Amino acid sequence: MLDIKITRTETPKAKPQDESKLGFGRIFTDHMFVMDYDEGQGWHDARIVPYAPLVLAPAASVFHYAQECFEGLKAYRRADGRVQLFRPDCNAQRLRDTHERLCIPAIPVEDFVQAVKALVSVEKDWVPHLDGTSLYIRPFTIATMEQLGVHASSSYQFLIICSPSGAYYAEGINPVKIYVESEYVRACPGGTGAIKCGGNYAASIKAGEKAEQLGYSQVLWLDGAERRYVEEVGSMNIFFKIGGEIYTAATVGTVLPGVTRRSCIELLRDWGYTVHEGRLAIADVMKAAREGTLEEVFGTGTAAVVSPVKQLDYGSESAQIGGGKIGPVTQKLYDTLTGIQWGRLPDEKGWIQPVD
Ligand code: COI
Repeated sequence: MLDIKITRTETPKAKPQDESKLGFGRIFTDHMFVMDYDEGQGWHDARIVPYAPLVLAPAASVFHYAQECFEGLKAYRRADGRVQLFRPDCNAQRLRDTHERLCIPAIPVEDFVQAVKALVSVEKDWVPHLDGTSLYIRPFTIATMEQLGVHASSSYQFLIICSPSGAYYAEGINPVKIYVESEYVRACPGGTGAIKCGGNYAASIKAGEKAEQLGYSQVLWLDGAERRYVEEVGSMNIFFKIGGEIYTAATVGTVLPGVTRRSCIELLRDWGYTVHEGRLAIADVMKAAREGTLEEVFGTGTAAVVSPVKQLDYGSESAQIGGGKIGPVTQKLYDTLTGIQWGRLPDEKGWIQPVD
């Protein structure tokens, strides 16, 4: 249990007036959570302080060797005004796994959840009210040691900032065109694809820009070893419905274990669908499209929830999906997940945690 010291701002910012124009991750709230780690002392000085720039040594490891990572989750306002979180324990566990891979000391799951709840409680009035909006919560850890040797840092900071946000993609839930990327890769076996470190995202920007220049919303990533198997789409996990069954890449080292991914799999299995977590060759996806059995394709992630794909272009071949419309399973997943998240549907799975 953390002892969190709270210092409130004396100059609160004006809250956004028009919640239909929030965008994603552009506006930040009045406070942030900070906790320090020093070798010999462990994690210490948990505090909520006014949101402000950080002061770091130019030699801090985070700037040179990218020993850093992040998480993403949301606080949702229910119709009755109460505020709630969706599976924050899953983000806490994934941060632990990420820390382990990056040689960063662990933060206990309960401390992470306590810190998120404490900050959201202080920032409750910042949780937007408009349908489809939420408070995006961004926990992150940075290596702060002032030293240029390539080693694990002896000091870190763990922070949480919050941003009232609307839809992640300008397209919202409208189906998008995706470019199958066969030059750049996102992750390789033995690398960091399964964790949420900034380096993975830095390495993805080039392909994203290329796709945008070619008129696509995002790229579909193939595996880094053979460039044969589908792995992720943009910064999301990806699902295919082929001949009535669901396929998604297994999280065996190169694919991020998304909280929305996991929730979709649980719901789909509850609804009686067979869900295959394994290898799916892009050649088989294109073949299914030619044969008319590629029924639905969608990405899943915290930010956009579920994002339908209407077209997949691979080399000179183009797969058209669902006549450009969102498929029934994609829609049902979106309605169920957002229903639970915003409190419109009962939380039968125990995924919701209220914020007091
Ligand atoms: C997500 O929540 O889907 C993401 O990972 C996107 C985030 C990097 C903005």
